[in-house]
Amino acid sequence: MSKEKNPHQDKFDRLAVARQKSKLGGGQQRIDKQHERGKLTARERIELLVDPNTFEEYDAFMTHRSREFGLEKNKPLGDGVITGSALINGRLTFLFSQDFTVFGGSLAEAHAQKICKVMDKAAQVGAPIIGINDSGGARIQEGVVSLGGYADIFLRNTLFSGVIPQISLVMGPCAGGAVYSPAITDFTLMTRNTSFMFVTGPNVVKTVTHEEISSEELGGADTHASVSGVASLACDNEAETIELTRKLMSFLPQNNTDDSPRGSATDPFDREVPELDSIIPDNPNSPYDIRDVITRVLDDADFLEIQPDYAGNIVVGFGRLAGQSVGVIANQPMVLAGALDISASLKAARFVRFCDAFNINLLTFEDVPGFLPGSQQEHGGIIKHGAKLLYAYCEATVPKVTVITRKAYGGAYDVMSSKHIRGDFNYAWPTAEIAVMGPKGAAEIIFRKEISDADDAEKALADKTEEYRQEFAHPYKAAERGYIDDIIEPRTTRARLIRAFQTLENKVVTNPAKKHGNIPL
Ligand code: HXC
Repeated sequence: MSKEKNPHQDKFDRLAVARQKSKLGGGQQRIDKQHERGKLTARERIELLVDPNTFEEYDAFMTHRSREFGLEKNKPLGDGVITGSALINGRLTFLFSQDFTVFGGSLAEAHAQKICKVMDKAAQVGAPIIGINDSGGARIQEGVVSLGGYADIFLRNTLFSGVIPQISLVMGPCAGGAVYSPAITDFTLMTRNTSFMFVTGPNVVKTVTHEEISSEELGGADTHASVSGVASLACDNEAETIELTRKLMSFLPQNNTDDSPRGSATDPFDREVPELDSIIPDNPNSPYDIRDVITRVLDDADFLEIQPDYAGNIVVGFGRLAGQSVGVIANQPMVLAGALDISASLKAARFVRFCDAFNINLLTFEDVPGFLPGSQQEHGGIIKHGAKLLYAYCEATVPKVTVITRKAYGGAYDVMSSKHIRGDFNYAWPTAEIAVMGPKGAAEIIFRKEISDADDAEKALADKTEEYRQEFAHPYKAAERGYIDDIIEPRTTRARLIRAFQTLENKVVTNPAKKHGNIPL
């Protein structure tokens, strides 16, 4: 074939030059600075996150239109954010990744328009959206236009909540009002030492309250993962943040009309777990790690715990049973004896609502002595916060299966996906204790007179406690009423759960038509 000169070569050359320029963002010097700080560039993050060679970029040539503060002389292509679509684990996903090398990743009109465009497309085609945040906030030179841009994003975060999964990665600064986009999204992953989120930074805090605090302490990854509960996961570095995002995505459906993912399972469905028969300690007040139960039951012991360092008295996360995604909620006897407090209620309620919105089965392991007593809890609003978890379980229409391993006392019995609030299958282990309250507290109330009249009050209390335990601290009264469907040998739990969820595969339950409910916020 003769090699004729392409008559349009000059146009192709122009495109190549423009594309190369766009790829360089804020220039090599700023890229080097980004690397020196242990941070990847916006493009490198996308490369790591998506399946190889699947990224389709949009709006690489978009620029700002501002003429303030000499900005007209500096119009970087792409305006500080890279947007597009790609495959993650073979499934379509939309993305935006803020480029700190361009105006510090700050957000203004064009930057916001690019983000809104991919958000709208994600919602139209029913695919998840992932946002990588690394930004100095509103671009100061563009003023109120930047604020408008944020609001455009917040509106979409809200309208698409419960429609498509939304995930935020915070890999640099995310300050001021900018924090409210990640806050509305379903999951926020942060990187230790290089990311921080706060509404007002250390300088403003010092001016207003005279408190001296570093960025990391005020709003770093560990702070948000363990103190505020804003972060779903804190990761050691950017590679781990991205790896966990890919893993998280593998449990999620594309949108709210899609079934949750069903992979091929190699772990035998009917695998018995003999260790579970003796996992509950002899002493009903001794703790055990509920994660040992969860991992032994799930496929291949694979469990992605969400918010592992926040409200440790409840464990939530994703796993699979017979290949199908399941959301696990479990009281943790190792922390506060598994009692429900404000933080645990908030953590679990949000998780339950996410799973319900996205058709992910709910599996509840219950060992709860009740709500945590104390003025701190009461004055902090445990009534309304505990009600959130109750509301979330009541409202949920996805298949719900509950296993009571030990304690199911008081209001917490009702809350933790009981039969009465539409638990589909409720199982108890023979070690279950289902009653209005624990034996000692109950004996102190109902045998008060006998105990105070006795010569040896301490012995009388012990005797009456044992009497109550024999009479009520077991699963048979609940089974008599059909409040639990079966008492199962712990070793058979995995097989029973898989069968239960298979039975529920075509479950249809709808809630009364309404604009929206009024969850106690
Ligand atoms: C324009 C910005 C910018 C911003 C940073 N830059 N933030 N440009 N608007 N908001 C630019 C810097 O001028 C600099 O440009 C480059 O980005 C890198 O910034 P540095 O300061 O050199 O980096 P670093 O030392 O790492 O500090 C990062 C930072 C700091 C902590 C984010 O830049 C900072 O405090 N920026 C201002 C943050 C802020 O107050 N934002 C507005 C918040 S209010 P050159 O050309 O030198 O590379 C807000 C309201 C949102 O966001 C409301 C939504 C409802």
